[in-house]
Amino acid sequence: MELHSDVESVLFTEEQLKTRVKEMGAEIRRDYAGKEPVLVSILRGSFMFTADLMRALDLPCKVDFMAASSYGSGTSSSGQVKLIKDLVEDIEGKDVLVLEDILDSGNTLSSLLELLKERKPASIKLCVLLDKPERREKPVAVHYTGFSIPDAFVVGYGLDYDEKYRNLPYIGILKPSVYGG
Ligand code: IMP
Ligand code: MG
Repeated sequence: MELHSDVESVLFTEEQLKTRVKEMGAEIRRDYAGKEPVLVSILRGSFMFTADLMRALDLPCKVDFMAASSYGSGTSSSGQVKLIKDLVEDIEGKDVLVLEDILDSGNTLSSLLELLKERKPASIKLCVLLDKPERREKPVAVHYTGFSIPDAFVVGYGLDYDEKYRNLPYIGILKPSVYGG
């Protein structure tokens, strides 16, 4: 596949993503043996990761979706988090595993986790594909991380800039000229 002209370089190839997601699935499966977790996928960025991770999880599980916005079309979080779509399932007494594409400032996840904890799940853990630790503003405890990455704006494999590039099969660094950086 040819590199998209707005992408500066590939950070993780399709193959690398596949391998890492399988490893994460194996680890989660061991930790949740005998349980039936509810995977809470945070839309929209996590849909591809969720689909792949779920297939790598040889375990009975459920999936539900939630969406929040803090962004607009910029490249950094506003700190204001709005719930756009709530879960369908009741998570009280359930083992919840939250799936997120990328942990950046931590604003989105810290407020979503607060909200979920109020519903009294039996347990709640967080699984992120990508983490940008340098950018953290709010502390968030992560239990499973795919990759730690440097402070760069990335797209592909579900991740967007201004709703574009989600369909790229790899994760690449977006050219700063695209967002006027
Ligand atoms: P936070 O609230 O700053 O942690 O932002 C988390 C959300 O910002 C993620 O769910 C993504 O939607 C978005 N985001 C943060 N960094 C990136 C990036 O490098 N590429 C694409 N989206 C990002
Ligand atoms: Mg997102």
